Amino acid sequence: MAGVLIAFSGKGGSGKTTLASLMIRELIRSGNKPVLAVDADPNATLALMLGVPCPGTIADLRDEMMEVAKKPSEIPKDRLMDRWLAELLSEQTGFDLLTMGRPEGPQCYCYINGLLRRYLKLLRDNYPYVVVDCEAGMEYLSRLTVDDADALVLVAEPTNVGLTTAERIAELSQALPIRVRRRVLAVNKVPASGGEAESTELFRPAPVQAVVQVPFDGDLARRASCGEAVDDAAGSAARDAVVQLMRECLS
Ligand SMILES: Nc1ncnc2c1ncn2[C@@H]1O[C@H](COP(=O)(O)OP(=O)(O)OP(=O)(O)O)[C@@H](O)[C@H]1O
Ligand SMILES: [Mg+2]
Repeated sequence: MAGVLIAFSGKGGSGKTTLASLMIRELIRSGNKPVLAVDADPNATLALMLGVPCPGTIADLRDEMMEVAKKPSEIPKDRLMDRWLAELLSEQTGFDLLTMGRPEGPQCYCYINGLLRRYLKLLRDNYPYVVVDCEAGMEYLSRLTVDDADALVLVAEPTNVGLTTAERIAELSQALPIRVRRRVLAVNKVPASGGEAESTELFRPAPVQAVVQVPFDGDLARRASCGEAVDDAAGSAARDAVVQLMRECLS
């Protein structure tokens, strides 16, 4: 059976990678493992945030394949690529990590996006849970990189611009030929004093099935500024909200 896929989308800097990292930790902690963690942002930071070595990327493979394609080979290119993709998976405790990367030079993303989409479909049979950290904005949706998600988490800061962006992504995900079972709005970095009520007033009638508010967590901000990973001890102030977010995504 295909694993449950949870994708994190939203405006640049809203906290997609942070919440994806916390979600991966929470899934593992609650026994929902193994998790396949997928960094689908060309500016890959998920490995850094999780505190694990930066693995090779699908984009690197594309460049290698270009070299191989110049010479005659006995192994069909597709088989060779599948073997290389399998070797790319970086094994960690409770999760494996797959990183898309970005092509060098002016090539377009279509080829590596296609590889990621095809490989994700295969891998979903091997992992009960898949968490995808998407790039900022909406282009990855139009490229159909993630075309079948159990939950699309729309991460937004509690501002008009943040929530409008989340709403547009939610609407686009409805208009495109993709399957999204549940859209969950995660209003992130909500200030402690009075923030909850204030930001609730800002909520748009976006096509979302649930809204979770994640408080501003000084530990997460400090870790980011010191380059410290989001490990099991990180983000205690945000933890209850992340547990709630996980439940909304899995329900
Ligand atoms: N709940 C939170 N409380 C405090 N700081 C947070 C919280 N969530 C995220 N941050 C901080 O916000 C900043 C941006 O986070 P992050 O890199 O996860 O965003 P992103 O959406 O993945 O960005 P990008 O679009 O560049 O990929 C970081 O400094 C991070 O520590
Ligand atoms: Mg990010």
